Amino acid sequence: MTIIKINQWAEPLIHHKGTLLEQALRRGVPYPHQCRSGECGQCKTRLISGSVRQMPCLDIALSDNERQDNLILACRSTPVTDVEVSWLDEADVDETSAAEIPVEVRSVKREGRVCRLVVALLADPSAMVFKPGQYVNFVLPGLPVRPYSMASVSGSATLEFHIEHQDNGFVSDYIARYLHAGDRFSVRGPFGDAYLRPEEKGPLVAIAAGTGLAPLVSIIRSAIITTPERRLTLIYAEREKRHQYYLEELQRLAANTPILNVQLVVSADPPLSTLHNDSITQCLNQLSYSLQDASVYIAGSPVMVESVAKTVKLLGADQHRIRADAFSRAAVQGDQRVSLVARLGRLLRTR
Ligand SMILES: Cc1cc2nc3c(=O)[nH]c(=O)nc-3n(C[C@H](O)[C@H](O)[C@H](O)COP(=O)(O)OP(=O)(O)OC[C@H]3O[C@@H](n4cnc5c(N)ncnc54)[C@H](O)[C@@H]3O)c2cc1C
Ligand code: FES
Repeated sequence: MTIIKINQWAEPLIHHKGTLLEQALRRGVPYPHQCRSGECGQCKTRLISGSVRQMPCLDIALSDNERQDNLILACRSTPVTDVEVSWLDEADVDETSAAEIPVEVRSVKREGRVCRLVVALLADPSAMVFKPGQYVNFVLPGLPVRPYSMASVSGSATLEFHIEHQDNGFVSDYIARYLHAGDRFSVRGPFGDAYLRPEEKGPLVAIAAGTGLAPLVSIIRSAIITTPERRLTLIYAEREKRHQYYLEELQRLAANTPILNVQLVVSADPPLSTLHNDSITQCLNQLSYSLQDASVYIAGSPVMVESVAKTVKLLGADQHRIRADAFSRAAVQGDQRVSLVARLGRLLRTR
């Protein structure tokens, strides 16, 4: 266990010392983190001594039980005294110890707002063995690092990703507009805990919104191969019908897999924060089996994940078998918001 001591008073007083995470990173501590906004839970920390002021966060990032167990989120906690803390999972700490593999773009296919990107590994596939549901970080020259989940199964010489085009988003906008077959960049990973556990029994229910479909397709495709006796349900929600993608593949998959039940949910009801929860609940209520011995996987925006996780818990799912992949947004520094022209000027095409 690595214990970090943040001594509030040893340093000359600076006007804003910031969160525990900011203070640790400033001191060069390789603290695990991702969203920096209380959504992903990567910076979960045990408070050993001292006290902190905590800001609100999502329950999926830190549950009530965890709070009572003296756990905090480093990105949402400001020390008010000297503190001693330790992060939870040392395996995640040093991201640089993960494999960084060069890849070459094979195809970029647009389906509405989604880019389906296929890259070939420029290394032996054994260098990038991942568990279904995991993600890698994209390291594109001149751009901030962003995580994207594999939609393909492990062991292949290619990886597939589904990337939603966010207007003015640093990385997704670049991928949608400028990435072409033959371009090269690197992926680092794999990472993530919301992966398929083939040893688990009972039905498997996967609930996706938007490109949350990507990791769940990887999970479903792998489960079909590794545990063909399990009942599989995939619920895929989009706000509007025109945003649905990957439909042909889903139809083909369902047609060829009797154990797989695919439900498409469309709801144009605002607000996004309650995205489809009623329609998803309806689908879940219509299942012919109970969720009590089911493994449930949820992927999409943090608010969608949080609200659906609450629903499945209420419907009897075991908390330990609910695994969620919240596509939280990375914190963007003000000075990163440079003009597109300036950004493009920095990009190195490595074709
Ligand atoms: C574990 C994990 C797995 C993920 N997997 C996937 C996946 O498979 N597919 C997928 O599509 N996404 C996935 N994501 C999300 C992905 O990593 C990126 O967050 C997403 O693509 C947006 O990145 P970007 O650089 O394009 O946008 P950013 O530059 O991060 O901006 C995102 C949006 O916020 C707006 N914005 C940002 N900062 C500001 C600001 N200061 N003021 C106003 N507006 C602002 C931008 O205009 C844009 O619309 C995943 C996230 C996580 C954490
Ligand atoms: S980095 Fe703290 S919750 Fe994501």
